[in-house]
Amino acid sequence: MNNKHAPILFFDSGIGGLSVMQAAAQLMPHQQFLYVADYAGAPYGTKSEAEIASRVPALLGRLAERYKPSLITIACNTACTIALSHVRAALNVPIVGTVPAIKPASLATKSGVIGLLGTDATIRQPYIDRLENTHASDCVMLRHAAPQLVSAAEAKMRGEFVDKSIYASAIHGLTSQNNGDKIDYIILGCTHFPLLISELSQSATDNIYFLHGADGIARQIKKLLIDSGTPPPINGSANHHFITSGPLDDIGVYKASLYDYGFTDYSSI
Ligand code: DGL
Repeated sequence: MNNKHAPILFFDSGIGGLSVMQAAAQLMPHQQFLYVADYAGAPYGTKSEAEIASRVPALLGRLAERYKPSLITIACNTACTIALSHVRAALNVPIVGTVPAIKPASLATKSGVIGLLGTDATIRQPYIDRLENTHASDCVMLRHAAPQLVSAAEAKMRGEFVDKSIYASAIHGLTSQNNGDKIDYIILGCTHFPLLISELSQSATDNIYFLHGADGIARQIKKLLIDSGTPPPINGSANHHFITSGPLDDIGVYKASLYDYGFTDYSSI
């Protein structure tokens, strides 16, 4: 049996992983979480494969040593499509990954045309080609990089104004491609994007649905905890701890939003 006080750690370049943590908190409302934002290395989407492949396993190694988590969720598609296997090989901790929900989209589409929004780094990965070949070979899958949505999600969490044209232009990046007018499902292949799902839905035509994998990942986390003998607590208050790899002072502007996610403690590594 594992140590039932060992924390569960969520990891992303910034606040995107909160979309996954929020789904996990809904399923396990009494579970406390450690959330790590790698602001010193953000954004990941514009970095090279080599940078991500060396940075993410090294940082997660340090975090695992320091916080001794019972489970790590890499709540970042960019990190997972590049470095998930490196992290799993390096760490002796169960790792849950986050990759674009290509399979559910290919099962749901009626038109046979789906869209993938992600970071520049994610959409060019061979990992995505493999998911497409395995699960969506009978569909057309169009891809578009929307790094401006990463900045928009961060700005929204800081309580800043975001120009609405950003959402329409991200969607247009898919619908303006050949066959793009037939898209009925858009996969939000970056964990920052579900934080903008209402803005994106308002900017899209009624026949387009948005889809992401957070609920499935949350179920997987719960199952792994139960299987490993540390089921989530059934009572108690869940106060979460936010950790940044950047200066702690930079987190001040996020605190009002983070409070709504249940964060009460903040630190930097
Ligand atoms: N949230 C991230 C993802 O899921 C990365 C965003 C970024 O840092 O560019 O891909």
